[in-house]
Amino acid sequence: MTQEKELHRYYARLRTKFIAIIFFIAFIPLILLGGTTYYHYSATVKEKIRKELKLIAKNRKDTIDLFLNDRANSLSVLAYTHTFDYLGKKENLHNVFQLLKMVDSAFQDMGVINSNGKQVAYIGPYHLTGKQYSQTEWFKAVMKKNVYISDVFLGFRKVPHFIIAVKRIENGKPWILRTTIDINMINHFMCTALLGKHGADAYILSREGTYQISTADNDLILTKSEFKMPSVFRGIKEMEGCHGEKALICAIAWLKNNDWLMVIEQDLKYELSPMVRVKNTALSIFIISSLIIIISTILITKRVFARLEKVDREKSQLSEQLVRSDRLAAIGKLASGIAHEINNPLAVISEKAGWIGDLLTEEDVKNSPNYSELIKSTEDIKKHVKRGKKVISRLMGFARKEEVVYGNVDINSVLDETHDFLNKKAIYQNIAIMKEFHEDLPSIVTDGAQLQQVFINIVNNAIDAINKDGVIRLITKGRDGGVLIAIADTGPGMPEEVQEKIFNPFFTTKPVGKGTGLGLSTSYGIVEKLGGHLTVESEVGKGTTFYITLPPSCEQKTKG
Ligand SMILES: Nc1ncnc2c1ncn2[C@@H]1O[C@H](COP(=O)(O)OP(=O)(O)OP(=O)(O)O)[C@@H](O)[C@H]1O
Ligand SMILES: [Mg+2]
Repeated sequence: MTQEKELHRYYARLRTKFIAIIFFIAFIPLILLGGTTYYHYSATVKEKIRKELKLIAKNRKDTIDLFLNDRANSLSVLAYTHTFDYLGKKENLHNVFQLLKMVDSAFQDMGVINSNGKQVAYIGPYHLTGKQYSQTEWFKAVMKKNVYISDVFLGFRKVPHFIIAVKRIENGKPWILRTTIDINMINHFMCTALLGKHGADAYILSREGTYQISTADNDLILTKSEFKMPSVFRGIKEMEGCHGEKALICAIAWLKNNDWLMVIEQDLKYELSPMVRVKNTALSIFIISSLIIIISTILITKRVFARLEKVDREKSQLSEQLVRSDRLAAIGKLASGIAHEINNPLAVISEKAGWIGDLLTEEDVKNSPNYSELIKSTEDIKKHVKRGKKVISRLMGFARKEEVVYGNVDINSVLDETHDFLNKKAIYQNIAIMKEFHEDLPSIVTDGAQLQQVFINIVNNAIDAINKDGVIRLITKGRDGGVLIAIADTGPGMPEEVQEKIFNPFFTTKPVGKGTGLGLSTSYGIVEKLGGHLTVESEVGKGTTFYITLPPSCEQKTKG
C-alpha cells in the first residue's frame, strides 16, 4: 500500500516536471518570436512615420521660405525700380499695386513711408494714409536692416497679419516700401502638412514662442505656446513626446532666417493604431495557442503517465507476487521437513504414553497414593501430543502441494457451503453472514475443494476479527469471463504495517496457541496456484475486504 502511494507520488512529481519542461520549451520560443517580431515591426513603423514627417517638414520649410523670399524680392525690385516721388503718389502706387496683385494675390495692401515714419501713400482696404509708424517695432527694425519680414501682429487694423518692408536710400534719405501679407496663405501651406490625419497639428511660433499660425485653432494666434523653444539649428529635427505629450511625435525647423519655428505634430497613438491592432491579434493568437498547448499538454501527459503508472504498478505487483510465491515455496519445503521429523517422535511419545496408561491400570499400581496423579499426567501428555499433531498437520497442509483437481465449479454454491459450515459459529457470536451473489455467475474450471478451504480461512478470520456483533458479506461478480469474490467484514480493520505482513507464513496477531499464522499464506498459495489473485483492502475502524479474482479456467494458466 505504502509502496503504491510512493509510486503514485513519484509519477505525480515526474508529471509536474514533464509539464513544466514542455511549457518551458513551448513558450520560450513563442514569447521570443512574438516579442522580437513585435519590437522590430514597431521600430520599422515608427521609423517610417518619422521619415515621412521629416520629409513633410522639409517640404513645408522650403515652400514657406521660398514664399517669403519671393515676396521680399518682388518688393525690393519695385522699390529699386521706382523712386520715392513716383510711388509717393497714390495713383502711381495704385497702378503698381494693381499690376502686382494680378500676378500675386498674397499682397493685401501697399504703403510708402518716409524717413520720419509717416505713410505718405497707401493702397489697400483700410484708411491708413498719413499714419505714423515711427514708434512701431517693425519701423525701427526695417531702418536697421534693408529687408524686414515682421512677426504676426494686430497693428492698427486689429487683425493678425504680418508685413514685409524694404528700405531704399535715395539721395541720402531712406524711405520704405511696405506690404501686408495674408497669413492665410501660410496657413494653407501648413494645413497641407497635416495630410488630414487625426490628432495632428501644425503651427509656427515666433522666437518668443508666440503662435504665428495655428492650423488647429485660429484663436491661439498671438497667444503664448507651451512649447519649449529649442536653440537655433539647421535643417529638420524630429522628436518623440513633444511638450510632455508622450503620444506626440513632431518635426521642427527654423524658418525666416531663424525667426520662426515651424512645428508639425503627429499623434503617434493614432499613427500606430494599425500596429496596436496587429499586436492585439497577435496577443489573441498567443493566448489561444497557449491555452491549446496547456490543455493538450496536461491531457496528453495525464493519460500517458496514468498508463505508465499502471504498467509500473502491475509490474511491481507481479514481481511482489513472484517473490511471495518463491518465499512460500521455500518455507513450505522447510516446514514439510520439520513436520516430518517431529511427527515420528510425537507418534512414539503418544504410543508410549498410552502404554504407560495401560500399565498403570495393573493392581499394585492402582493402590499407589499417586495413582490418580499419574493417570492425569499421561492424559496431559496425550492431550498436548494431540495439539502438536494438529499444528504439524496444518504445517503439512501448508507445505503440501496438493494436486489440483479441476472441475466445473459454481462459485456461488461453494460459498453457500462455506456459509452453511460457519453460520452456526457466526450466529453464536451475533454475526450475520449475508450472501450478495450475482445470479448468472459463469461457472469456471477450477478446484472447488481447495477454494472452499480459502473461503473458510477468510471467513473464519473475519469472525475472529469481529468477535461479536457484526456483518460479513459474501459478494460475487463476473469479471473478464472469470469471477470476482469479495468477502467484506465490519471488523476493526488493519493498520498498513499489519496489512503488509498478513500473507507471510506464521504471521499472526492472535495469542500463542490460538493462531498459527498459516491461514492466509496457505490461501494465497492456493489462489495463485489456481491462476487467480488474492488482495486485501482494509481501513482501521471500518473493516476489511478480501478480493479473490479467478480466471474462467485455471488450466491453461497453470500449465503455461
Ligand atoms: N478479517 C480480518 N480482520 C482483521 N485482521 C485480520 C483479518 N484476517 C486476517 N487478519 C490478520 O491476519 C493475521 C493472519 O491471519 P492468518 O489467517 O494467516 O493467521 P491466523 O488467523 O492468525 O491464524 P490461523 O489462521 O492459523 O488460525 C491474523 O492474525 C489477523 O491479525
Ligand atoms: Mg486464520
